[in-house]
Amino acid sequence: MSKKITDKVTWVGKVDWELQTFHGQELSTHRGSSYNAYLIRDKKTVLIDTVWQPYDKEFVARLKEEIDLKEIDYIVSNHAEIDHSGALVELLREIPGTPVYCTDKGAQHLKAHYHEDWNFVTVKTGDTLEIGDDNQLIFIEAPMLHWPDSMFTYMTGESILFSNDAFGQHYATESLYNDKALETEIYEEAIKYYANILTPFSPLVIRKIKEVLALNVPVNMIATSHGVIWRDKPTQIIEKYLEWADNYQENQITIIYDTMWNATRLMAEAIAEGIQKADKDVVVKLFNIGKEDKNDVTTEIFKSKAILFGSPTVNNGPLHSLSGLLGYIKGLKFKNKKAAAFGSYGWSGETVKQLNEELEKCGFTLVDAGIRSTWVPDEQERAKLVKYGEEFVAKL
Ligand code: FEO
Repeated sequence: MSKKITDKVTWVGKVDWELQTFHGQELSTHRGSSYNAYLIRDKKTVLIDTVWQPYDKEFVARLKEEIDLKEIDYIVSNHAEIDHSGALVELLREIPGTPVYCTDKGAQHLKAHYHEDWNFVTVKTGDTLEIGDDNQLIFIEAPMLHWPDSMFTYMTGESILFSNDAFGQHYATESLYNDKALETEIYEEAIKYYANILTPFSPLVIRKIKEVLALNVPVNMIATSHGVIWRDKPTQIIEKYLEWADNYQENQITIIYDTMWNATRLMAEAIAEGIQKADKDVVVKLFNIGKEDKNDVTTEIFKSKAILFGSPTVNNGPLHSLSGLLGYIKGLKFKNKKAAAFGSYGWSGETVKQLNEELEKCGFTLVDAGIRSTWVPDEQERAKLVKYGEEFVAKL
């Protein structure tokens, strides 16, 4: 069902309450998501983005209930990824020849996805499209936020920034706006989205936001392509992005481990005890990555100033859950975070050394050489681990 957000702008997207993972199985979406598309009706009629491919027919059918498709003068494709461009084939089959405004890279990506020779009109930052007496669209390229083709579209008059993925969250909501959703929930999803998708591009995020702020234009709404529209104090999420992009960390130390027979878990708990003993204020969190969701744990890494990674040695290396996590976060290029490794072993015990090497490749600064225990820690060993936790805090 479409929803009017201003006299001239209507939300025509799809709320996906069922979605459990995104990007294949790579990203968990515990609270579903939405694919927000917008219809602008002024002297010209413009559709901004579409929805994910599985909903293409539903999208076009619903759009027809809203408008005669032939009335659409222009389509703006802010981003070629199929969660936003997925209904273009179905739509343009009905209205072939309708101009598709996108970046040069956007046209390349759309052609590479759909192999269609649509009527592309490529735009650059600052290009404009007149759509009515009071309204104009201004295009702002946003390369690598988060694909090379990404762009924002700003609507003057209504002062709406259509930001596509930026400032979005995987969050299903029927009520559409940030002031109608639970603030804690949308921020949990927004930071998870940033940590898991945008972290590698943080320097570009800062540069792009400064460029947008320098335009000095009013922003009444930030109409994202996922989750809520930021209507109440819309620039709050821009301020949050500036914080998150600036080597973000909270006063948190996270201990991530996996364990076979609980020896490495006992090590984790003893180290945690030492950390808390040395610093009553620091938030200490423990996660068994063998059981936990990697994207949620990655969000906790994003929030941490230091992380300890622990695994027993099995077949001359760490358990696969640790290796998988490190493989995943290597690409996220975390900065300004300290780390150390620990683990129990019976004979060869190479894991801590291997974890150290991987942690450095992930961009962490090693605090020390880490700590190992043989077999199951006894009371004496436990005391050593508590002491290690205390010393770990002192080294930060
Ligand atoms: Fe929501 Fe990059 O697609």
